[in-house]
Amino acid sequence: MERKIIETNIEIYSFEELDKSKQQLILKAKEQVFKAYAPYSEFQVGAAIELENGEIFAASNQENSAYPSGLCAERVAMFFANAQFPEVAVKTLAIAAYTNGSFLEEPVTPCGSCRQVLLETETRFEKNITILLYGTKHIFKIDNVKQLLPICFEKSSLNS
Ligand code: THU
Repeated sequence: MERKIIETNIEIYSFEELDKSKQQLILKAKEQVFKAYAPYSEFQVGAAIELENGEIFAASNQENSAYPSGLCAERVAMFFANAQFPEVAVKTLAIAAYTNGSFLEEPVTPCGSCRQVLLETETRFEKNITILLYGTKHIFKIDNVKQLLPICFEKSSLNS
């Protein structure tokens, strides 16, 4: 028997410690929660993406009375960005969530399906995506999506 231990490297920052461009992206994600369509969960999520060419996209979660038909903010943002700029890699993604009248204290973390979608974009462009997870107490910075989905199914898995 062998054992493999997988570590996730998370850096924890205060808002003030982050550089201006990261602060801006977090502010965009925070603004975006107020545009969420989340009448069922009342859990409003905002996501903001910066592409390598400097373009910024922001989106929110979009729910549906047929619950599984809704989509998380990260996926709305990522699919929209990739659809507009299919040749441009994603540099940074920021996520914030708001419920019961306030932003979450602890950083919001993307669901499994979103991690899978984010990983596809990271591998597609062969460029790490920096992930910023906002919480009022602190902000997590993670250097790439693979950290969030270390044992994954990806393009290369189809040929193995
Ligand atoms: N949600 C997101 O948009 N992103 C996340 O990272 C977590 C969950 C949405 C999906 C659903 O509309 C609501 O939050 C509650 O799960």
